[in-house]
Amino acid sequence: MGATAVVGGQYGDEGKGKFVHYLVHDEEIKIIGRGNGGCNAGHNVYDPERGVALALHLMPSGVFGKDTVNVVGDGCVINPHNFVEEMDSVEACGMVLTPKNLKLSSRAHVTLQTHRNIDGATDIVGSTAQGIGPTYRDKAVRIGIRLEVFLKDSWRDIVCALIESHNAELLVLERPDLVVVIDEEIKKLEAPIAKIIPFITDTVTYLSDENAKGSTIMIEGAQATMLDTNHGTYPYVTSSSATVGGITIGLGLPLTAVTRVIGVFKLPMTRVGKGPFTTLLTEDEADLHDTLAGVKGEKGSEFGATTGRARSIGWMDLVMAKYAHRVNGFTDIGLTKLDMLSGIPVLKIATSYTLNSQEITNMPADTEQIELCSANYTELPGWTEVITGVSEFSKLPINAQSYVQFIEEYLGVPVTMIGTGPDNADLIKR
Ligand code: IMP
Repeated sequence: MGATAVVGGQYGDEGKGKFVHYLVHDEEIKIIGRGNGGCNAGHNVYDPERGVALALHLMPSGVFGKDTVNVVGDGCVINPHNFVEEMDSVEACGMVLTPKNLKLSSRAHVTLQTHRNIDGATDIVGSTAQGIGPTYRDKAVRIGIRLEVFLKDSWRDIVCALIESHNAELLVLERPDLVVVIDEEIKKLEAPIAKIIPFITDTVTYLSDENAKGSTIMIEGAQATMLDTNHGTYPYVTSSSATVGGITIGLGLPLTAVTRVIGVFKLPMTRVGKGPFTTLLTEDEADLHDTLAGVKGEKGSEFGATTGRARSIGWMDLVMAKYAHRVNGFTDIGLTKLDMLSGIPVLKIATSYTLNSQEITNMPADTEQIELCSANYTELPGWTEVITGVSEFSKLPINAQSYVQFIEEYLGVPVTMIGTGPDNADLIKR
């Protein structure tokens, strides 16, 4: 049947995990893999059988699947400390992680504490401060360390050399406070490395064999199209490719393996970190902020799963969505948080921008120009009914149905899944 890729269409945090989780169970997906990013990502998974919710970062969302195999692919970056913490939290819920159900690519790169320190000392885009940029930088300039290094007796010397160069860099950056004691760092790595070694393997060969056998595979995108290092609002992007091509290649699957590309969009949309946000709520719309975000601590609240930072909130942007579709070629659209729009009398949805007094329907390539754009909205009538947990499209208020159909028609792609609440079951499948 081919592989399914789940891709963020906006600035991340679209709720991709909800659909991944649903499809893993509904379609009995055998393998779920990550091909980009590291612990900068955050997704919440809920296991109804055990009644536990976990905030995961790099661990694929299939960990609670009965026989699901979770793969962290070549294009990912792994911080051994953070990853082992995630493994521990999954195991604390009663799951048994074995080399059969968790596979880490020997080609994935390693994030060290000094990568995080350099990130903290050099960041200009509001990064998650997890060391992701410096790790991909080291990979690109070919001084990075891959997981395979830990399979060699000499790993301590190799890690030591990289930390030495990072320490020197931190001194040049005039941050002696961030320089680390090398022996201590190596010592701290011993236990996490010992724990992950059995899981390190050649995931490309594994995936290729499974793909040839016709196994169901899902590629779980991290971050999103507008944070993609090639196609996003550069420089306000992450350091990996988060679009369908990047996450597929990053996992080590051929592009031809992918037959379904699900673009996920959140209504309302959000952004963390710096960079343009054309449909951001205005000051006059401040009273809508809490309705759309939920109040902190309650279900639906908009705070980053990795950083805890408040997310900026705005209206659905179809100009951006169309651009994301151009880049990814979505076959399906998934919408999350339709329920958060209940009770808003008029729903705005951006259908064009104005740039230098001209109306445009294409996203400009130049980020400075995007910053100069203002959104032109189509206004659609809202609905008052609470729709939390509605699971059939025909049971939605007619205005909610029309809102979804408007998006579908604008993009020319079917909306096949709609999130109607925080629980896994709060979902419409069409
Ligand atoms: P980095 O990936 O930590 O280098 O951060 C670069 C930019 O991407 C910052 O604006 C982050 O807020 C943003 N970012 C990275 N990962 C995520 C994510 O999973 N969700 C939302 N934003 C993210």
